[in-house]
Amino acid sequence: MSYEFLTIRREGPVEHLTLNRPDVRNAFNAEMIGELASWAANFQRTPDGVRAVVLNGAGKAFCAGADAAWLAKIASHSEEENVRDATVTSRMFRALDELPVPLIGRVQGAAIGGGAGLAAVCDIVIAADDAVFGFTEVKLGIIPAVISPFVLAKIGPSAARELFVTGARFPAARAYKMDLVHAVVPARELDDTIERYVAEIVAGGPEAIAAAKTLIRDVSSAGSTRDAESVTANALASRRASAEGQEGLRAFLEKRKPRWAK
Ligand code: COA
Repeated sequence: MSYEFLTIRREGPVEHLTLNRPDVRNAFNAEMIGELASWAANFQRTPDGVRAVVLNGAGKAFCAGADAAWLAKIASHSEEENVRDATVTSRMFRALDELPVPLIGRVQGAAIGGGAGLAAVCDIVIAADDAVFGFTEVKLGIIPAVISPFVLAKIGPSAARELFVTGARFPAARAYKMDLVHAVVPARELDDTIERYVAEIVAGGPEAIAAAKTLIRDVSSAGSTRDAESVTANALASRRASAEGQEGLRAFLEKRKPRWAK
């Protein structure tokens, strides 16, 4: 599949997915949103042995959020069309959030608005120490709506209240403190840091990793610890019974590497 605003590069078990509108700091318009959604749908169908996806931005920034020119244009459309557009955007974020392999955000430059939202749907985010984040939508008279479920799940309501109402920009160190980012390194160390994460990931069972991601979503949306009980018991039982689970346990007892890690 070929894309106009994305580039895809495969390197061993890793797929590098790069937002490619560097002239506008990878701000996303309807076309880029559509391409991200179809990339995610295609990936769901044929992951093709990919064990991790690294999400990058081409050029100086990770992503400057929604393209202001596109937002200004669609603002004059009917309310119905705007709801439809926002729903498409929301589904794109959800598709990335629910990817069956770890999504690793490689953040350099800026991650603003929907760009910070993209960081929120990553499982692991590595940021350059000079990267800047912000949920700046209120400065444009709008709100970080479709990204909010993913952002709240990462940073919690208290930090969201401060950052959504001020629209203030904040450094990578602050993003790290609120768990939006998992490691902050000099820009030249981004790739080595990601490689270390990938080495951990490929040592884990691919189905188990996908199931771990589903587990987190299901337990987070369970109403109570009691509701979570059947979710967790069923999830664990199904992993134990799986060929992958049995291979992993046998490999440990036989002091050898499991088949997937060879
Ligand atoms: N939508 C459309 N165009 C954007 C954009 C956006 N969200 N963000 C940046 N651009 C454009 C700029 O208008 C500029 O275009 P020009 O070259 O025609 O003047 C170009 O991208 C480069 O932007 P610039 O600000 O010069 O780059 P920078 O590297 O100094 O700063 C950012 C990068 C991302 C920090 C800065 O561009 C920025 O703050 N953008 C606004 C982000 C925002 O408010 N997003 C929320 C949208 S809901």
